[in-house]
Amino acid sequence: MQLPAAEPYKIKMVEPIYLSTRTEREQWIREAKYNLFNLRSEQVYIDLLTDSGTGAMSDRQWAAIMTGDESYAGSSSYYHLKDVIKNLFGFDYFLPTHQGRAAENVLFSALVKDGDLIPGNSHFDTTKGHIEFRHAIAVDCTIQESFEPSNLHPFKGNVDIDQLKEVLDNNPIEHIPFIILTLTCNSSGGQPVSMQNIREVKALADQYNIPLLFDSARFAENAWFISQREAGYQNKTIREIVLEMSSYADGMTMSSKKDGIVNIGGFIATRRKEWYDQACTFNIMFEGFVTYGGMAGRDMNALAVGLMEATEPDYLTSRIGQVQYLGEQLSGYGITVQQPYGGHAIFVDARAFLPYVRQEEFIAQTLSIELYLEAGIRAVEVGTLMADRDPLTRENRYPKLEFMRLAIPRRVYSNLHLDVIAVALKNLYDRRLEIKLGYRITQEAPILRHFTVELEPIAM
Ligand code: F0G
Repeated sequence: MQLPAAEPYKIKMVEPIYLSTRTEREQWIREAKYNLFNLRSEQVYIDLLTDSGTGAMSDRQWAAIMTGDESYAGSSSYYHLKDVIKNLFGFDYFLPTHQGRAAENVLFSALVKDGDLIPGNSHFDTTKGHIEFRHAIAVDCTIQESFEPSNLHPFKGNVDIDQLKEVLDNNPIEHIPFIILTLTCNSSGGQPVSMQNIREVKALADQYNIPLLFDSARFAENAWFISQREAGYQNKTIREIVLEMSSYADGMTMSSKKDGIVNIGGFIATRRKEWYDQACTFNIMFEGFVTYGGMAGRDMNALAVGLMEATEPDYLTSRIGQVQYLGEQLSGYGITVQQPYGGHAIFVDARAFLPYVRQEEFIAQTLSIELYLEAGIRAVEVGTLMADRDPLTRENRYPKLEFMRLAIPRRVYSNLHLDVIAVALKNLYDRRLEIKLGYRITQEAPILRHFTVELEPIAM
């Protein structure tokens, strides 16, 4: 009999969690104005709000923390991380930032101007926020299959090449500072981009002389999917695939809180000296001197180790296997989720789950609140609330899909926790037709409203 695949690590430290009562949760969610971001973490039993900065560091990472060099300039931790980045991605220039959106802020301050267009595959919300904040437009060129939850296309993060070509043909090239590829594509369900698609985007970018930027937050998970699903990559190592992926890019922004397996950190890496030179000034203004840029030396050390651990095949098989395990259970209960299952999260199709709740009443948010009430599980809405208002008309933007995202932190929960999540959702699914009314907004911010929005239930 073949041995089952267990986690390639054992647990050295534990953090207690508390399962509250439904009555407690009813009070807490009311006090939180029905926004799950407003809950205190002690009020949450299993926290699937994000896989960002919530992973468990290894003993080697903690050991690296102790040998961090906190020098203001020229820290050895900076040079250690610089070497790891050069070896993994092949980029000569690197700037640390305190997290991914800070990398976007610094690089886009140098590159994005009023009236620009940035085509890409379902830009992440902070990426889009940093584009729109500069009065530029994020043009989503993701393939149509990505918007069909049951479509089994193996690379639903891919860009539609014809659509991208149309954007490049019909707009002034000087207003397209770069094309951005998000690997994996978070907004479409942690879906990977194939090497072939990366190559095709690069060929088009070259033809129009436009640089290609990667948003690499989950680059290792993307490489793992390529190794599993794309012909010609079965005998390549994850690191070989990562290096080939980045060989097609001019640079990357990175949220190290994902595939860096650290709790805070980010960076910009590039082969373009002029990008580096321009970004340096903004890095010094917004983040810190170029050799620490918002990160402690110890955190750069931990990141250098984390990047290597995240590109170990056994780690990736276990990590993504856990996400698939949850996806299979939910599908087994008849719940519609984005298929194939993503790398970091399961995206539940909230519209199929709650057919009576209207999109104007925030279907995926309603489902997330119900899941919290059912079992103290905190998910996140990826739907109308997150889609925000159109910057010009100020009307609500209604996305094609209403998702509730169950993001799985790295190396944190056991499969028994995942069983609890699956049963909680099954219980909700059994009584889903009783849930008919959603929520209305009582207060919202002008941009990135989902973080701070306040809501109230719509009464009968
Ligand atoms: N790009 C992608 C694809 C992301 O998923 C995120 C963050 C960022 C950029 C920004 O990075 O948080 O370090 O500033 N995603 C988190 C999430 C917040 O929950 O998916 P950051």
